[in-house]
Formats: sequence, structure tokens, C-alpha cells
Amino acid sequence: MTAAQEKQAVVDLAARYVCPGRVETFKMLGTLPVMGRREGHYFWDLDGRRLFDVHINGGTFNLGHRHPEIVAALHEAADRYDVGNHHFPSGPRARLAEALARLTPGTLRYSVFAASASEANDIAIKTARKTTGRRKIVSLIGSYHGHTGLCLAAGDVKNAEYFLSDGPPGEFVQVPFNDLDAMRAALAGNDVAAVLLETIPATYGFPLPAPGYLSGVKTLCEQYGAVFVADEVQTGLGRTGTMWAIEGYGVEPDILVTGKGLSGGMYPMAAAILSERVAGWLGDNGWGHVSTFGGAEIGCHVALKVLEILERPGVIANATAMSDVLGAGLEAIRERHPLLVEIRRNGLVMGLRFDHELGGPMMTAAGYEVGLWAFFAGFQRSVLQFKPGLLINEAECAELLGLVEAAIQVCEVRLGRE
Ligand SMILES: Cc1ncc(COP(=O)(O)O)c(C=O)c1O
Repeated sequence: MTAAQEKQAVVDLAARYVCPGRVETFKMLGTLPVMGRREGHYFWDLDGRRLFDVHINGGTFNLGHRHPEIVAALHEAADRYDVGNHHFPSGPRARLAEALARLTPGTLRYSVFAASASEANDIAIKTARKTTGRRKIVSLIGSYHGHTGLCLAAGDVKNAEYFLSDGPPGEFVQVPFNDLDAMRAALAGNDVAAVLLETIPATYGFPLPAPGYLSGVKTLCEQYGAVFVADEVQTGLGRTGTMWAIEGYGVEPDILVTGKGLSGGMYPMAAAILSERVAGWLGDNGWGHVSTFGGAEIGCHVALKVLEILERPGVIANATAMSDVLGAGLEAIRERHPLLVEIRRNGLVMGLRFDHELGGPMMTAAGYEVGLWAFFAGFQRSVLQFKPGLLINEAECAELLGLVEAAIQVCEVRLGRE
């Protein structure tokens, strides 16, 4: 079988047994990668094409694909542990929770572990409701918190309605990003359990919070008795030059949700980290949340290695330094190519906005042709999400900038704007 035939066989199986709609959409977009070999910033399509990965599944591959120390930690864990018994105290789970408490701001202390960040966001919502005795959840238009029950209802209305999961009228309310008046109006009834927000909304194309916006939301939460939940699933773990992006905005959340990169890209791991103020139910009801795979011991061992690497001198600082290198290079590209109109950037969280309403998908397709894997922002399609791995160096930045410019040139030709 040739590599192309092998790839086609996988695509056919996926269309027949996994998700025909998804295969069809990728075909329409003109990009249908099937991951073969993977290493560092790159993965190779089964047909041989090498792709520089700056989608990194929203931060899952923060440390690169198959980081050797993470692979070694996984082997070590597999030699020693299994998923463990989720009812019992466990060494790896307790040690990971202790590390997360140390590395998170304010009084955040207890980790409730989950197998996905969707589940962790559901835990955050349950916690806020139990703490406040209220049901209403306020989130942002254009936010994404996952596809399970409560967090689906708190996200995009169309996604929730599709599965009749939008909840009773008035229970899940969305307000515009960066609009403190709208947030105040939503909270003013003193009936809100939680404000759930991504520090920098990923699927909305990483628009940056206006100065004072996040601290203003926190103040409003305090004023009206709501719980502030920071979804740091994409923005946390060193991406913005601090361990959590919310710290850079001077805000202490009541609950912080993490996932994706905590897995090292190797073993599922997510958590809702609760402050003392909202953690009462953990004392009252030891089985208030139960998850067979949440906090699986193998995953905890791997996640501890992820945190150990992030804490090494220079690792998180590298995000800031390389952000400046990429920022300067992208500005120069923008001057040469007016199709690129805006560079949104906080550390290695970046969104590139194009002067075309479908600029994001066009860049995804063009990138695939030139050897770049970047994914458009689903709720703002003029934007390409741009999230290089944390360990990128200057030479790799130069290579990446070359790929971005090459992809823009492909788009310019397609649009007749060269
Ligand atoms: C900001 C944010 N929150 C939550 C989630 C849900 O994560 P998971 O797919 O692990 O359930 C995602 C996934 O993309 C996300 O981007």
C-alpha cells in the first residue's frame, strides 16, 4: 500500500465509523490531515507532508508533540500505576493537587479532577450553584467552554440548541465581551451563580481584554455575590508569560479551570481548582462529583512532569521573549501584506485577523499547502488562531514566519490581491 492509499483507507474508515460530517467538512476546506509521525513542533501527514503545528489543539501540545521527558514520565507511570481507584486517596493525585494549589493564585486550593475540560467546567458550574444557591450562569458571546451538559449550555447558543441542551429560558445568559455595562446589567438581579469566562476567548479569535475589564468583572461578581470562574484551558500553563493569563490581569478567580496542556499531550487530565470560599461541598459530600477517569494516576504523574518543566528557569519567560520575536516579524509581514490587518497577541496566545470574512479558513487551507497547521477561529472566521509551542526558539520562529508569509501569498493569489 502506498502512503496515499494508507491515508485514504483511514479517511474511509473515519467517514464510515467515526464522523462523516467532519470528514466532509475537512474535504470541502481542502485540508484533510491524518496524523502520522509527530515530534516537537511538527507532525507529518500520513502522505508524508510535514506540518509546523501552531494549532497544537488549543495548547494540548504546549511542550511540543511527544516531548521526550513526558514520554519517559508516561512509561514510568505505566510501570508503576494504572488509572487507580478514584474513590481512594492517591499519591500521584494528591501530589498534583498540592502542586496546582501552590501554582495558582489567591486561595485556590482544592483540585477536582476530570477527564476533560468540559467536565471540569461542568464541575465549576455545579460548584457555583451549590455555593450560591442560584442557578443563573453568565458567559460571553463567542465563548467556548466545552461540549458536555452545563458548559454546552453556557457556550454558543446554536451549539446548545442543536442538542436541545440550551436550558430553561434565562438560566444561561450571554453578554458581549469587554462590555462592563452589559455584565453589570446581567448581574444586577442578584441571582447569578457564576460568571464563566475565558481570560482571552479562543474560539472568538483571541480578542484581548480591555484594560480594567477582567478586574471590573471580578468587582461586579463580588458586589452581586457571583462566583468568578476563569476558564484557563487555552490561556493557562505559561502561554502568556505568567503561569495563568488571569494573573497577568491582576485577578484572583474563585475557580480556575485547566486542561489540555496539563496532559502533556499524552494522557487526559483536567481540573477545576476551587478556592476555600466555594469548596464547602467537598467537606459536606465526599461523593459530590465522581469521575472514574478524572485524576487517573498515570495522568497525574505525567501532569506533574508538565508542571516541573514549566517551572524550570527560563521556560515561561521564553513565551514572552519569543512572542516579541514573532510579534516583530508579523508586523513586518503585515506591512508587506495588507490582507493581514490585525495581530492580537498576549505572549504566545495570538490571533491573526485578515481583511476577508473567511480569511481564517482560507489561511488554514493555504497553510496546509505550504506546511503550516493553523486553525481558524470558529466564531470569528476572519481570524486565524496562532499558538506556537512554548519551547519555540528564534530559528523556529524565523521558519514559522516564512510559512505564514508563504500562506498569505497563496491567499493573495486566490483573491486576486497579489
Ligand atoms: C477554552 C476551552 N474551554 C474548555 C474546552 C473543553 O475542553 P475538552 O475538549 O477537554 O473538553 C476547550 C476545548 O477546546 C476550550 O478551548
